[in-house]
Order: sequence, then structure tokens, then C-alpha cells
Amino acid sequence: MMDQAEKLRQAIDSLKMKQSSLQSEIAVPAVAKTAKVITVTSGKGGVGKTNITLNMAIALSEMGYRVVILDADFGLANIDVLLGLAPRFTLVDVVQNRKSILEVITEGPCNIKFISGGSGVEELVKLDKDQVDRFIKNIGILDRLFDIVLIDTGAGLSENVMSFVMSADEVLLVTTPEPTSITDAYAMIKMISNRDRRKVIRLIINRAESAREANDIFSKLSLVAEKFLSIKLHPLGYVLEDDYVTKAVKRQQPFSIVYSKSNASRNIKAISERIMNSGADGINNESGTGIRSFINRLINIKKPN
Ligand SMILES: Nc1ncnc2c1ncn2[C@@H]1O[C@H](COP(=O)(O)OP(=O)(O)OP(=O)(O)O)[C@@H](O)[C@H]1O
Ligand SMILES: [Mg+2]
Repeated sequence: MMDQAEKLRQAIDSLKMKQSSLQSEIAVPAVAKTAKVITVTSGKGGVGKTNITLNMAIALSEMGYRVVILDADFGLANIDVLLGLAPRFTLVDVVQNRKSILEVITEGPCNIKFISGGSGVEELVKLDKDQVDRFIKNIGILDRLFDIVLIDTGAGLSENVMSFVMSADEVLLVTTPEPTSITDAYAMIKMISNRDRRKVIRLIINRAESAREANDIFSKLSLVAEKFLSIKLHPLGYVLEDDYVTKAVKRQQPFSIVYSKSNASRNIKAISERIMNSGADGINNESGTGIRSFINRLINIKKPN
């Protein structure tokens, strides 16, 4: 039986073949395509980041995009728990040069893939320049294999989470309608704006009672952000409060698969379509700067010299 790494290697080979046969048919631009790196975060914990990341990945995959989730949360209630899967290796194994990036990729449902981050990023800072170069070359393979890298972070304003936020092409900030969650989202927006006012922050209101409630929160939050922090927020959408989310969590299966007709699933589909729909709000959505630039930015933030 073929092991997973072997399968992935074959996938790459067939991809290369497709590319070269394409090249003979049409003029392929010289610039290599790079993945778009999206970090999902929140101020307060438990607001639905992991569920949104996972179900967006599935919706985007169904739309034809090749998606990988990087699980950068070291707490509980992670992607692997929601899927009932236990990855054997983490990014630490890649950073420490024990495994190739292909060997730490786990297959999820609907053709999505995920990588468990472990404390890989902490380890990254300890490497010397040659080791970093080798790691970046290794992880750069992801640019060829995937269109979208979704990063699920832990909650809160820690340096670790901030480094993922500031390095990403764009940020999805999740909040619920609860005042504490909104206050913490504002604190996160403030931290981001202090570092980079041009950062693209897209807001998702989770567990909303209605579209109206979500729109109301969005208007208020973007008003104060613009007035006091001079940063523009982009509305991405909302997910209604839906019992099927909890039911799916208990079954350790994504709600967009087991309850595909639920409100939450419909909302996630709408969000996923919007995020790849270029030009809608002046953001160039299809392309990203790629995983290599992401890692370079991450290292520069973590290791200022
Ligand atoms: N739209 C929703 N409707 C109903 N319940 C929801 C919804 N979204 C999330 N929940 C509930 O909130 C719980 C926490 O969700 P999730 O684990 O995705 O949050 P999180 O932000 O990733 O948490 P953490 O900060 O701990 O990583 C879910 O297990 C589910 O019970
Ligand atoms: Mg989580």
C-alpha cells in the first residue's frame, strides 16, 4: 500500500507533468503562482475560529481551490479534534529536518489537507541562516500545491498570534455579538493598526441572531476603528447561531459536510465565495504573496535584529 508521502510525491509529479504539458500549449507567465496566506484570529477565545477555518476550507475546496490548513493553535479544540484525526508529525519535524513538508501533511475530508503546527514557529527562530533557507525551500513546495493556506490561530493578543496576523496576506477577524468579544476584537484591531494601518482585516460575525444584528455590529466597529485608529475594516459576512454547529462538533465532523443545508453551512459558503471574489471591495483577492514571503515575514517579526 502506498503511504501518504508517496501519494503526495506522485501528486506533485503529476502536477509537474500537467504544468509542462500546459506550457507547450499556451504561454505560461514566467512568474510562479504563489498561495494566498490567510490568518484566522480573534481577540477573545472560543468564538468559532476553528469551526470557521475548517468549514471555509471545505467550502473553498468544493469551489475548486486547493486548500491547506495550518493549525497554529497549541490549545485544545483544534482542527484534528474537530475532524477526529490524529496527525503523527508536526511542523517541528520539518523545522528540525526530520521530515519533509510532504510527510507532515494529513488528508482531511473533501480533499482538504492540514498541517499541525506544533511549536514549529518557536523552533524556527532557533535556526541559523542556512537551516532557515533549507526550511523555506522545503515549505515553498506548498506554493505549488495549494492556492490557499488557511492558518487557525489561538485567541488573544500574544506575540505569537500577532506574528501570524502581521505576516499573512490578509486577516479574518472573528467576533460574536457579545460585548466582551467585540471589545477584544477592537483591542486586536488596535494592535494591528499600531503596526500596520494598511493591513487588510476582514470581519466575520459568528453566532449572530440575524443579518441585521451582524450588520449593526459591523457598522459600529468599523466606525470606531476608522475614527480612532484610522484603519478600514472589510465586512466579510456572518454565521448565524446554529445548533447544528455544536451537533457536528460532537460528531467530530465538519457541519458543512454532515449538515450541508444548515444555516451555518450556507453562511460559510457565502463567506468563501466573497473572499475569493476579486475586486468586490478593492482587494486583489485571487493572488497572494506566497508561503515563502510569509515565512520570511514571520521570521523577521519573531527575530528582530
Ligand atoms: N455559529 C455557531 N452556532 C452555534 N454554536 C457555535 C457557533 N460557532 C461556534 N459555536 C460553538 O462554539 C464552540 C467553540 O468553537 P471553536 O472551537 O470553533 O472556537 P475557537 O474560536 O476556535 O476557540 P479557541 O479560541 O479555544 O480556539 C463550538 O464548539 C460550538 O459549540
Ligand atoms: Mg480554535
